[in-house]
Amino acid sequence: MPRPSSPRRSRLVSPRFLLLAVAVAGLAVPLAAQTRADKNASAKHAADKNASGEIVNVYSYRQPFLVEPLFEKFTQTTGIGVRVIFAKKGLVERVKTEGENSPADVLLTIDISRLIHAAETVAQPVPSPVLEKFIPATARSSDDLWFALTYRARVAYVSRARVRQDTLSYGALAGPEFKGRICMRSGQHPYNNALFASQLAHLGEPAFRTWLRGVKNNLSEKPSGNDRAQVRRIYAGSCDVAIGNTYYMGKMQTNSQKPEQKDWARAARIIFPDAQGRGTHVNVSGMVMAKHAPNRDNALKLMEFLVSEEAQRLYAEVNFEYPVRAGVAPSARVAKWGTLRADTLPLETIAAFRKRASEIVDEIGFNN
Ligand SMILES: [Fe+2]
Repeated sequence: MPRPSSPRRSRLVSPRFLLLAVAVAGLAVPLAAQTRADKNASAKHAADKNASGEIVNVYSYRQPFLVEPLFEKFTQTTGIGVRVIFAKKGLVERVKTEGENSPADVLLTIDISRLIHAAETVAQPVPSPVLEKFIPATARSSDDLWFALTYRARVAYVSRARVRQDTLSYGALAGPEFKGRICMRSGQHPYNNALFASQLAHLGEPAFRTWLRGVKNNLSEKPSGNDRAQVRRIYAGSCDVAIGNTYYMGKMQTNSQKPEQKDWARAARIIFPDAQGRGTHVNVSGMVMAKHAPNRDNALKLMEFLVSEEAQRLYAEVNFEYPVRAGVAPSARVAKWGTLRADTLPLETIAAFRKRASEIVDEIGFNN
């Protein structure tokens, strides 16, 4: 049975309207707010036609442009309105503070560490044959608490001019041929932490230490900057192999606001490490259902909608990611970079090695 919304919540929103994008105080910039307001207008129109009075509340760490098209489709399909709160941080803590009165139904986030944090702090299990069928077991929790929606592969960006090979393994990054030629962001950043955790899980601690020391010795400079900054270093000639997430290639290739990034992207190509072996390390974006979700049935409908073929294609395409659902192809642009064969080590297993990987990064002074 659906649980009714509490009176406090139902006062917030007229059930006739779909209210997309409630900006969190202090985080919304005026331009973004304006964009969201514009989108509200069309979304509201769609909701009027499908007015069912049903809603689902989403707390989203993912940006409006990524999820609003999905929610509009969901409302068109089901008649269920979607209210969203966007923020860059603090949403899990907010749900926790709100406790049993929290209006949150579904949380959307990125990165396995943040997904697990949400799962452990504010989620409820969602036993769903649909989610089980379409999300690979390696990309959801064994206790039904979190579910991945998209993959982002952590790959090698290599110089078109200075690197000839077409294949590469993560192991080779520690080899003598890459002395002084590798660049990457901090070893403690969650993206590298998950990559290192997967290496630790595969290699065991002694071999992992040796590998990580080898990579450190091959760095062209101290880890700093974000993933895109490493590709800029390839462009500038200061390193030949950078570690980065795949979607940044798409973001750089299409960046009309900072067209210099198109040049960075042109200087590099992607190699999927270990594509011929155990598979390339992937991280995810994903979702959990809030423990006290007041609109549980609608939340389940939304979560199951997000693994539909249409939603998977849309969601992956808009951020140059990969659908988790088998049989749904990535966008044409993403497909051009090569074929992703994801490592089959469960993300849950990788997550269990995060803490130790982080300690070893400090022990060997990777960032120093
Ligand atoms: Fe990112």
